[in-house]
Amino acid sequence: MARVVVTRPLPEEGILDLVATHEVEILNRMSLDEDELIAAARDAEGLLTLLQDPITERVIEGCPRLKVIAQFAVGYENIDVQAARREGVIVTHTPGVLTDATADLVMALLLAVARRIVEADRYVRAGRFERWEATELMGMELRGRTLGILGMGRIGLAMARRALGFGMDVLYHNRNPANPTEERSVGAQYVSYSELLRRSDVLSLHCPLNVESRCIVNAGAFSMMKPSAILINTARGAVVDEEALVEALERGTIAGAGLDVYQHEPQVHPRLNQLDNVVLAPHLGSATVETRTQMARMCASAILSVLAGKTDIPHRLT
Ligand code: GLV
Repeated sequence: MARVVVTRPLPEEGILDLVATHEVEILNRMSLDEDELIAAARDAEGLLTLLQDPITERVIEGCPRLKVIAQFAVGYENIDVQAARREGVIVTHTPGVLTDATADLVMALLLAVARRIVEADRYVRAGRFERWEATELMGMELRGRTLGILGMGRIGLAMARRALGFGMDVLYHNRNPANPTEERSVGAQYVSYSELLRRSDVLSLHCPLNVESRCIVNAGAFSMMKPSAILINTARGAVVDEEALVEALERGTIAGAGLDVYQHEPQVHPRLNQLDNVVLAPHLGSATVETRTQMARMCASAILSVLAGKTDIPHRLT
């Protein structure tokens, strides 16, 4: 029986087959550094990882029996994929299954900010709902507003589809324009990044974190946005310069934000906690029972396939 290390507890149903057929150790620490990962996976052939696990060259070299790393996420910036390739380790991830769950969360954050749902909840709980007021807690209507999507991949497209249902117009910016059929299917128009910033009532981020996208939404970007604009970030915290975001929100350079990810995750900028025009979530994009179970199943299946010597491995990165 090959040894497999899972770095955090996952939805059990998704890994039943793996647990039944291999020697699986499920770790349960808050976070693991390189040395702890090496100590745990030194003799493992399979490793199931999360975004917060630093799977560096050192870790990969420190686990010489490793054949497969299955990442429980679509993003994989925590893994040195080049080093894995060099060492002949197969790396897989979980694209596709979390698209709708993430786009749903974007919509939830957007509605929460636009209609001030969290503020309203606090208002009711504080016993302030004494009479119906015609001018209390007024928000922004979505119909007729412009949604700007930065990064038109699977999740960007899913968000564009939802926005259409809410009567929004959709603009997007991407490294390359999306294919014309997809563009037409959601009625989205390709624009430059600066036009996206200038024209969007809602800017939703859907790009991966890389050298080009790091802090692309910075003080200069906020100064081009409408003072009534809302920013939604369910992509990666570091796509946004968080200090500049806090200032833009405090000064009214933009109107509000819905955030699921943070530049120094899991730390949240302390001044964000003070702002009423911000709704905060703890990286919940894929957090539905269905999606998280399916992600666990995909990771388990990738590990089972590699350890069974199969070569046709879906969603492999190396
Ligand atoms: C979550 O952030 C993911 O990349 O799956």
